[in-house]
Order: sequence, then C-alpha cells, then structure tokens
Amino acid sequence: MTEKTVLDKFSLQGKTALVTGGAGLLGKRFTLALAQAGANVMVADLNLDAAQAHAEALTQKGYRAHAAMLNVTEPESCKQVVADSLKLYGSVDVLVNSAAMDPKFDPQNLGKQNKNAFEHYSPEAWRFTLDINLTGMFLATQATVPAMLDAGRGVIVNICSTYGLNGPDQRIYPEVDGQVLYKPGDYSVAKAGVLGFTRYLAAYYAGKNIRVNALTPGGVFNNHNQTFADNYAAKTIMGRMARIDEMDAAMLFLCSDASSYMTGSNLVVDGGWTAW
Ligand SMILES: NC(=O)c1ccc[n+]([C@@H]2O[C@H](COP(=O)([O-])OP(=O)(O)OC[C@H]3O[C@@H](n4cnc5c(N)ncnc54)[C@H](O)[C@@H]3O)[C@@H](O)[C@H]2O)c1
Repeated sequence: MTEKTVLDKFSLQGKTALVTGGAGLLGKRFTLALAQAGANVMVADLNLDAAQAHAEALTQKGYRAHAAMLNVTEPESCKQVVADSLKLYGSVDVLVNSAAMDPKFDPQNLGKQNKNAFEHYSPEAWRFTLDINLTGMFLATQATVPAMLDAGRGVIVNICSTYGLNGPDQRIYPEVDGQVLYKPGDYSVAKAGVLGFTRYLAAYYAGKNIRVNALTPGGVFNNHNQTFADNYAAKTIMGRMARIDEMDAAMLFLCSDASSYMTGSNLVVDGGWTAW
C-alpha cells in the first residue's frame, strides 16, 4: 500500500461542489480549481449563458461540470439548484458562496457602478446589494445545509473582501469622465457581515461535521486602468494586485480535508494589503 501524503488531503475526488456566482471572474477560477481536484462542479449563476459557456469549457477539458440558473435572492431558486445537484451527482459536499454585486473599476464595468457619493447613495441601491451579498448567502446556505446534515458532513466557504476588514481608501479610485467613483458602503457592510455569518454558522453547526470558513481575496487585476492599478499596488506589501490564479489554491485548501481543523475562520489572500 502506498503511503498517503499531504497532497492526498487536497483531493476532492467523488465530491460535489456547488459554486454560486460560478460564472464570475473569480467564480470561474474557483470552479476550475475544484474540478481540477476531482470534484463534480455545479456552476450556478444568475447569468445562465455565461454559466453554460463555462461549464461547457470545463467539460471540454475533461472535468465534470454542469450549469444552473440561480438567483440567490430567491429561496425557491436556491432549493431548485440544490435539488438539481443532488439529482445529477448524489450529494452536495461543498458550497462556495461567491455570488455578489461587486462594483468593479475594470474596463468592462466602468460607467456601470453607482457614481454617487455616500451623501446621495440611494436606499434602493443599498438594499439591492445587501439582498444579494448577504441575504443571498443566507438563502443559498439554508437551501444546501439539509443535504449536508443528511450526509453527516459538509464544507461551506463564504467569499469576503479586504473591504470587509478595512474601509476603502477612496483616494485610489480615479476620476473617470469628470466624476469621482466611490466604492459604496453597502459592499463593505455586506462583506463585514459575511464574516459574522461565517462565525455564526460555524458555531451553530458545532458537532455536525460542517465546517464554515471565509476566504478574503484582495483586488484581482483585470486590465484595470493604470492609475488605479498603481494606486492599488502601492497599498500592498507585495507591490501589485493579485493575479487571477492566485486564489485557486486557497480555495482548494478551504474546501478540502487539507483544512480539516479549521472552522469559523477567515483566510486572507491580499498581498499584505490589510497588514500595512
Ligand atoms: N474580483 C476581485 O478582485 C474580488 C476581490 C475581493 C473579493 N471579491 C469577491 O469575490 C467574489 C467573486 O467575485 P468575482 O470577481 O467573481 O465577481 P463577478 O462580479 O465577476 O461575479 C459575480 C457573479 O455573481 C453573479 N450574480 C450576481 N447576482 C446574482 C444573484 N442574484 N444570484 C446568483 N448569481 C448572481 C453574477 O452574474 C456574476 O457571474 C465576490 O463575492 C466578490 O465580492 C472579488
């Protein structure tokens, strides 16, 4: 018999991972990393076309993946995706809560974010973000946990942000078309809430073999404008934004037995942003 090594602890062979927001910038990386470790992955997203395209790309690479339409703000939609995952794969061993409203400053998103300063920020925009980023996480988790309790095991990873730990330094956001772009408060509040939710759940499921942790990524470079990228880089010890693949291993660590003694905690991968 060959000796088991530390690398075996990272295997997700035979496990199923449901990733909300699985068609997003990082969502696509998370699903790829989990599939590479052997998991069946459910790419669940409000954007069904993008989810289908990504699941198809994973399948073509030889991984097991399916796409599902998911609106995390709708309890029935969450329950449906869990039911579909169980039907397809027989279990949901891992839930990654990645779906979010994440106002970005990369070229694809410039002009789409709410440009208002705090004094003029609308209650509708505030509620909309909290509904997706916080209540959506609650609903997706509530729909998934019964299957984990039935199986007697489960792992949940909630995606936070450095802005859940530190207040955004609004000075790094450049002026575009004569308007200063503010990072809105609802994002920070929701992400801080993600950590409270993580600790609550971990404690609530004590003795049930369900581990709950958070992953806190720093800003991932996505062809941002040079001023923003330079301003961001100057605030990190590493002197740069994250590369798109630099959250993969942390995600796999949290989802696998490699992190078997970790629950109610937060893994920060931010190039030293929050240490400075
Ligand atoms: N990209 C970064 O630099 C960065 C940094 C720190 C934290 N984060 C966090 O990481 C997570 C993933 O980020 P990303 O870069 O993939 O974001 P993204 O904006 O690229 O993707 C978010 C995904 O969530 C989906 N979504 C939105 N509303 C939904 C809903 N109601 N139901 C289901 N899906 C919905 C979107 O369709 C999209 O595919 C988010 O929680 C984000 O806040 C990202």
